[in-house]
Amino acid sequence: MNYKPLDPKKTYLITGAAGFIGFFLSRKLLEQGCNVIGIDNINDYYDVNLKYARLEKLKPYSNFTFIKGDISDKPTITKVFEQYKPNVVVNLAAQAGVRYSIENPDVYIQSNIIGFYNILEACRHHPVEHLVYASSSSVYGANKKVPFEETDFVDHPVSLYASTKKSNELMAYTYSHLYKIPATGLRFFTVYGPMGRPDMAYFGFADKYFAGEPIKIFNNGDFENDLYRDFTYIDDIVEGIERLIGKPPLADSVPHTVYNIGNNSPEKLMVFIETLEKALSNALGKEVVFEKIFEPIKPGDVPATYASTDRLQEAVGFKPKTSIEEGLQKFADWYCEYYVK
Ligand SMILES: NC(=O)c1ccc[n+]([C@@H]2O[C@H](COP(=O)([O-])OP(=O)(O)OC[C@H]3O[C@@H](n4cnc5c(N)ncnc54)[C@H](O)[C@@H]3O)[C@@H](O)[C@H]2O)c1
Repeated sequence: MNYKPLDPKKTYLITGAAGFIGFFLSRKLLEQGCNVIGIDNINDYYDVNLKYARLEKLKPYSNFTFIKGDISDKPTITKVFEQYKPNVVVNLAAQAGVRYSIENPDVYIQSNIIGFYNILEACRHHPVEHLVYASSSSVYGANKKVPFEETDFVDHPVSLYASTKKSNELMAYTYSHLYKIPATGLRFFTVYGPMGRPDMAYFGFADKYFAGEPIKIFNNGDFENDLYRDFTYIDDIVEGIERLIGKPPLADSVPHTVYNIGNNSPEKLMVFIETLEKALSNALGKEVVFEKIFEPIKPGDVPATYASTDRLQEAVGFKPKTSIEEGLQKFADWYCEYYVK
């Protein structure tokens, strides 16, 4: 094992703990007896009931403390660090979504830039063993070279969301350089699974199907040159984060690194959709076929995402491996049970 296992004596601060990834990560750490402090502002970007449902599942753990708060509020963050003295911080709180950053840019600057700056400042004044933070595959912009490698040039983001994530990497680098904060950025590639984000396409497709409405597919209806996405199942993401928590970058020069966490196996959007139809058919015991409307690709969307996972595998001996058949079946089973379909 070339990473340190989680230490139950330590305190892990997870921001965005009521969110999709934050919830699953918190639960995994809690199951291993770690002290987890979760913070989340429970904003209504998507159905807050799902956020409360996730928190309900964390409540039974006596080693879990939840704080309803905003990372862009500096006094709140300072107080949390003073009171709980976290050993490790995992910053997942952010305004996510590419398309929404076109409609509502303010919230991206507030949460992703000011919020992350507050986390960095807190780590500067209350040193932590490791700061792990969410970046995104969107930093690769319209990169044509595949697979995307961490060494690729990523100075051409095509959405404000991507710009904020790339900015986070630069800010974290600077703080690592100046204050020797060991920091690791995670470039996630389209994460999906049960209790996932309702704003994401696969979730929206299921919603539309049950509402008796057609789904819109933004790929120009061009199946030859379809969009490709590297979809990553939530359990793989959590496993990757858990291992990387125990692998802070070396302190010799600038202790900062970024990793792709993706599947290294992109799928055509249409294949993904057909697999979702099959998974819902299995869950319901009847054939599901979506009514489809094809539209032009949306501004800010990228034609392909494809992760090289070599760096991740080399560092912690793991790469995501769940197939979309397996992962989407788990999503479909959960969806039908949760929404009683
Ligand atoms: N899910 C993906 O496919 C994906 C891909 C790339 C990057 N990411 C990044 O991973 C992280 C987690 O994503 P997720 O899918 O779990 O999203 P999510 O929206 O489900 O979770 C984020 C949580 O952060 C909270 N939050 C937002 N702004 C906040 C603020 N200012 N203060 C406190 N809490 C705040 C939200 O209420 C939410 O519960 C995000 O940083 C996101 O940008 C996710």
